[in-house]
Amino acid sequence: MKRFLEYLEEYDGALITPGSNLYYLTGMAPQATEERLFLLVVNRDGESVLIAPKLYENEVEWKNVVFWRDEENPYGVLERVLSSLNLKSGKILVEDTMRASFLIHIERFLENYTFYPLSVVTKEMRMRKGEKEIRLMKKAAEIVDKVFYEIASRDLMGKSEKQVALEIEFLIRELADDVAFPPIVASGKNAANPHHSPGERKIRHGDFVILDFGARYKGYCSDITRTVAIGHANEKLKEIYEIVKEAQERAFQSVREGIKAGDVDIAAREHIARKGYGEYFIHRTGHGLGLEVHEEPYISQASERILENSMTFTIEPGIYIPNLGGVRIEDDVVVEKKGKRLTKAERELMVL
Ligand code: CO
Ligand code: CO
Repeated sequence: MKRFLEYLEEYDGALITPGSNLYYLTGMAPQATEERLFLLVVNRDGESVLIAPKLYENEVEWKNVVFWRDEENPYGVLERVLSSLNLKSGKILVEDTMRASFLIHIERFLENYTFYPLSVVTKEMRMRKGEKEIRLMKKAAEIVDKVFYEIASRDLMGKSEKQVALEIEFLIRELADDVAFPPIVASGKNAANPHHSPGERKIRHGDFVILDFGARYKGYCSDITRTVAIGHANEKLKEIYEIVKEAQERAFQSVREGIKAGDVDIAAREHIARKGYGEYFIHRTGHGLGLEVHEEPYISQASERILENSMTFTIEPGIYIPNLGGVRIEDDVVVEKKGKRLTKAERELMVL
């Protein structure tokens, strides 16, 4: 919060609904607050008031808090809170994911204001991780490494993608708080689609299967992808696998403090292009990782963002060939002068 106030300087205040930013700033992660107004109001002097539904009374603690009952109009409460904090006008940051229905009501109580997305401030703060955050991310990464080895030890042949996705989810939830996102299991031709939703297709002999999953541990995410062969690996897919593995390694080796994020993308992209598969690498090389699965810094070709120590992101090049299949290999990395992998599961092709 103290750091947040430094970043807040050029704004007059912030309206923060539950989500990763509220958790980051206060440690609060109230559940099921979608339709009832739950809002932290902060002004630039660092004064804050939490407005929360009465049913959270025993759960939340904050220095100044106003609870409202279901029969009350929360916007009347909000109007009083805004006046008490001298926040009737000015430049106001609003949580990006705040519901439009809340914002439309809130606008009525603010005069001469301009709204800005809260992320303009929080993305800068959250990109640079603290020691504790990195510790939690390491733990989240260890969990997905374990889950990968466990799933690779099972007989996947004949199982549907959906069933394998469920097994992955079960394994993650035994070890972590939650999945970071619904697992992706893409087999055979389906693997040509980077974000394939696991379906009824049964895994067959000769398939390449992309397994992409993440764990959430005390709020922090991991995100790993491994591609495995079932029973037998055909020559074409084997060739592609080696190219992706080398591209991923080159991108990883390129990571160091002070270079552009775009250069990491280019390290992977150039290798894939040189091998003749440039047009089949159809997404950026990676994304920042933290309280959310996708956050700054994005590892895309045009990014001028300078990498700094304690930034965390994924490196996940892939090649996707329609009607054949695809390969992606993804690791989580932290910048500590050079890159350091957080996920460490086997990257050599495994034929299960
Ligand atoms: Co992933
Ligand atoms: Co990813």
